[in-house]
Amino acid sequence: MEMNNWKKILTPYTQAVEELKIKFKGMRNEYINLDEYSPIEFVTGRVKKISSILEKAKKKSIPLDQVEEKMEDIAGIRIMCQFVEDIYKVREIIRSRHDMYVVEERDYINNLKPSGYRSYHIIIKYPVQTAQGEKLVFAEIQIRTLAMNFWATIEHSLRYKYKQNMPEHIQERLNKAAEAAHLLDQEMAEIREEVLKSQQGFQAESNVVADIFGNVQALAKTNEQEEMNDIYEMFWSLWEEGNVDKLNQFNKELEDKIRQVYQM
Ligand code: GTP
Ligand code: MG
Repeated sequence: MEMNNWKKILTPYTQAVEELKIKFKGMRNEYINLDEYSPIEFVTGRVKKISSILEKAKKKSIPLDQVEEKMEDIAGIRIMCQFVEDIYKVREIIRSRHDMYVVEERDYINNLKPSGYRSYHIIIKYPVQTAQGEKLVFAEIQIRTLAMNFWATIEHSLRYKYKQNMPEHIQERLNKAAEAAHLLDQEMAEIREEVLKSQQGFQAESNVVADIFGNVQALAKTNEQEEMNDIYEMFWSLWEEGNVDKLNQFNKELEDKIRQVYQM
């Protein structure tokens, strides 16, 4: 196939990856803005390089003109979660969406690979609106914890480095590391409740502080310097106290003041 042709083939996949990244990142932002816990920690995505497509097509005997129907991971999305439990939450979200269609799921968490690899894979069909009309493309979504990702990233680079001949002592280390990553996930699940409580408190505090700053700025435009000084001092003492309820109350009072000033 000609180079030009590849560009044309890959364009909708690039579009799909960009759109999916925006959608999953947007979901995280929604949770954060509502002071809620986000099951999504971060999202990455990539379009498979032409050289990798050719290599895989050869390995799996896929004719090049059937790559679009047979290769499911030309568009790839990775969703990282803090806890194993979050992975299943993300799975449910994906299953319930109407803008992507699940065609296959591979549970490498309950059925880990011999390499030690763990992740949850979902193959979807995703409709891309192209200049020629709608095009349904495959995309592979890998959902994993930070620990699973850490292991997979290192294993991938080592396997890439050693190709077929991974030294035995390195393979052993990788197996041990996989076990350690798994233990970490189990350990984290147990202290999950604790972690959630403290993180949510922290997120709520940083959100209210951001609101207060915005409101103080709005007030500073119309208020006397003296009154502003009182407001600043009040803020700093509440902030040092670190009581989110009191900060929220203070923010409400600021909002009342703004309403008065701007007669809203
Ligand atoms: P591929 O030819 O890789 O697509 O194999 P497959 O069609 O059997 O799909 P599979 O679900 O096994 O793997 C798909 C993707 O999961 C790979 O492209 C990797 O990104 C990831 N993966 C699978 N196994 C491993 C592994 O042992 N180590 C790492 N680091 N990643 C893996
Ligand atoms: Mg695959």
